[in-house]
Amino acid sequence: MGKIERVGVSLDQELLEQFDALIAKQGYANRSEAVRDLIRARLDQEQLAKPATEAVAGILLVYDHHATNLSAKLNHLQHDHLLQIITSTHVHLDHHNCLEVIILKGKVSQIQSLADRMTSLKGVKLSRTNIMSTGKELT
Ligand code: NI
Repeated sequence: MGKIERVGVSLDQELLEQFDALIAKQGYANRSEAVRDLIRARLDQEQLAKPATEAVAGILLVYDHHATNLSAKLNHLQHDHLLQIITSTHVHLDHHNCLEVIILKGKVSQIQSLADRMTSLKGVKLSRTNIMSTGKELT
């Protein structure tokens, strides 16, 4: 971490009260850590807008394992992207539905492309991709 700078910020009282209520609910011990997290999240968002940024992600898929060849197609996609896949976990949710969680790393563009290919497979009911940079650029 670099040198610490103290900054003063002028805020509308009502806005500050809303912020304080929010961070109290979230469990922050003080405003400083909450503000640092907000700044990091915004900087991370800027990084993720660049396709070449190194990132990590979790892809969650809910699908019907009876859908024709879907499990095999998902497996093929993962074998074709060994460099990006860190691990995956399969959970049987009920008689029909499965949850697959795939954790991956790579460039934003590679992750997004793989997530799109999985999401668009016939039989995938729900999908969500949570992506963030590796934190290397953030203090
Ligand atoms: Ni299953």
